[in-house]
Amino acid sequence: MHHFEFRDGTLFAEEIAVNELADTYGTPLYVYSAATFKRHFEAFDSAFDGLEHMTCYSVKANSNLSVLKLLASMGAGMDIVSGGELYRALKAGVSPEKIVYSGVGKSANEIREALAADILMFNVESLAELEKINDIAEQEGKVARVSFRINPDVDPKTHPYISTGMKKNKFGLDMEHSLKAYSRAVELPAIEPIGMDCHIGSQLTSIEPFLEALDKLLNFNEKLKGMGIEIKYLDLGGGLGITYDEEEPPHPKAFGEALTEKLKDLPMTVILEPGRVIAGNAGIMVTEVLYTKETPSKSFVIVDGAMNDLVRPSLYDSFHRIGEAEQHGRDERDVDVVGPICESGDFLARDRQLPWVHQGERLVCYSAGAYGFTMSSNYNSRRRACELIVDGDKVTVARKRESYEDLIANEL
Ligand code: LLP
Repeated sequence: MHHFEFRDGTLFAEEIAVNELADTYGTPLYVYSAATFKRHFEAFDSAFDGLEHMTCYSVKANSNLSVLKLLASMGAGMDIVSGGELYRALKAGVSPEKIVYSGVGKSANEIREALAADILMFNVESLAELEKINDIAEQEGKVARVSFRINPDVDPKTHPYISTGMKKNKFGLDMEHSLKAYSRAVELPAIEPIGMDCHIGSQLTSIEPFLEALDKLLNFNEKLKGMGIEIKYLDLGGGLGITYDEEEPPHPKAFGEALTEKLKDLPMTVILEPGRVIAGNAGIMVTEVLYTKETPSKSFVIVDGAMNDLVRPSLYDSFHRIGEAEQHGRDERDVDVVGPICESGDFLARDRQLPWVHQGERLVCYSAGAYGFTMSSNYNSRRRACELIVDGDKVTVARKRESYEDLIANEL
């Protein structure tokens, strides 16, 4: 459910016409709906009301400071994967005891910064990382709270690039190494193991893989108990999918109910790290038609938004619904929607049935609120887009469009 709706053929973001926003702020343009963010966060968080829990929004999905502030004001914790994300989360006012730090390659500096901030815990992904965190914590005179990211070897049935919980993936520790890690953790002077963690993948459209992973973790917990290790936090990661096209992922309520059923008697705080399900359908990318071009084999709609602005179609062959910002009732044609970048892989859609659009009109890419702007780049020396947050009839420039000066600001 989101707040991008047509009224008499004109697309509105909450109370403002998308075309008006494009006239004022230019294109390509990201537009986020505050009401949608709030609604998604509430729906997700309240689905776990039956459990002692913490919803730690996954910053990588959409890390705009205004978005983080909005979510922090609703009580969200944050899941971070870099020093930069820690910096953003703290700037947004998230309290450190609601921050968990995931990722296979935390650098010494990043570990030091997270210890200084006194975050809730590190989700540790290797024995070598454990030793490193212990060394640094010792030097700093601190004790690092950790959980281990357990790789349960479950197939999440999603795109291979965003599957993380299978044996062949670089993430986490298999069951055997996880046991070794906990035994080692209790020996280390500057480590306190307080949690268990897993994240099996992203854009999951069924509950079964989550439950399968959960069962494996609960079995594993029995082994830990046998070793005298009491775990206080169970972090189940993120991964709940959204509707881009025809997918029918479980509603957060059903997801919450299924997990609550299994976890209600467990004396642990459950941590969830949703990203896409909060941000994905809370944002659109608006782009202007520069040219149309017909060749003997294809019709192209050339727009000013490109793979540097929204890379998901090029990188994962992902589907983003595309439509007009203003409906004209024209006949549909089979088109490729492509950007100005010098790569054949620069497309937003291929072989898509779309009403034939004219130069200067705007198209909207839906479901662009997650992994849209955060994965954007300056490729082809293109300035990164402007990000707006619409809240009712109020617009905030959450990030202004980069200037040419910004492009070279850090160069000699
Ligand atoms: N927790 C951890 C440890 C993660 O690695 C991720 C995502 C999440 C939580 C949030 O997952 P979500 O709820 O958003 O599915 N760029 C890709 C997605 C990469 C996801 C990486 N990890 C895409 O555009 O589809």
